[in-house]
Amino acid sequence: CPQHSCSWLKGKSTLFKYQDFWSHEVIIKKVVSAQQSFKARPTDVFLCSYPKSGTTWLKALVFAIVTREKFDESSNPLLTNLPHNFIPFLEIQPEQVVASQENSSFAHVATHLPYNSLPKSILASNCKMVYVYRNVKDVIVSYYHFMREVFKLPMEDAPFEEAFDEFYHGISGYGPYWDHILGYWKESKERPEIILFLKYEDLKKEPTINVKKLAEFIGYPFTIEEEKAGVIESIIKLCSFENLSNLEVNKNGYANEMIENRLFFRKAKDEDWKNYFTDEMIEKIDNLIYEKLGAIGLVLK
Ligand code: A3P
Repeated sequence: CPQHSCSWLKGKSTLFKYQDFWSHEVIIKKVVSAQQSFKARPTDVFLCSYPKSGTTWLKALVFAIVTREKFDESSNPLLTNLPHNFIPFLEIQPEQVVASQENSSFAHVATHLPYNSLPKSILASNCKMVYVYRNVKDVIVSYYHFMREVFKLPMEDAPFEEAFDEFYHGISGYGPYWDHILGYWKESKERPEIILFLKYEDLKKEPTINVKKLAEFIGYPFTIEEEKAGVIESIIKLCSFENLSNLEVNKNGYANEMIENRLFFRKAKDEDWKNYFTDEMIEKIDNLIYEKLGAIGLVLK
């Protein structure tokens, strides 16, 4: 595979190119294995995203929707566990994915893989997929801070301009970003019954409508009685950034030896990019958005 040592991360991270996307060696090995042996079932549901687009939030919402009859507000396991523990990543935690398939006839599985690199059994089984996406400028800023913190580099040692430049040229985990979103977008136009596109900013602006849409799509619609009883609102509250980011487990726990749980909960502010982008960066990225995505009408301002 071609490889790239990320200069802004001071060479602490090396990405390899496999099947037109960039990732870490350890992940690529697991991807190859999943592509060869993962057996999806038509009832399995996939939560797909480009990193830093709202994956943690989507996982929490899906978990809360699916388990709403089992737990009340004070006993929900989301209060004591990182959302990632409930819905594993196909290419990061394959053993947990298989275990969740064994435990249930309908597993919920997350993935950052580009559409074209998904194991063929997912496509052959017509599994439903939810794709969450976010303003790409905020994705870049979120990705910058996440990676910098994983490798324990202070901002002065990790120049944002270099991080921007790499992302712009398509070199970022699971990037190029443009190919990632386009792969799922094209398929969602062909088969809207299979792929639901959810925008992070819309989930924030109109949570009730979007959580209802999400629940219906994954096969757990709310009853009229539940709606009247305020079940949707309590799920939104449980999964809110304010709630999750203030939980002890998410402030102090560890997802693994490299990643602290708090790194999944930074600011969750829309348009934080305005604090980082120069006029030149804005022009460059807007032109690229138009060139790569404009023609198909995908608005990613
Ligand atoms: P910021 O870095 O802009 O704060 P992912 O889960 O895909 O890794 O995305 C992480 C981003 O989602 C971070 O954005 C994080 O703060 C934000 N986030 C995490 N939990 C959230 C929640 N419950 N509601 C809204 N945003 C959330």
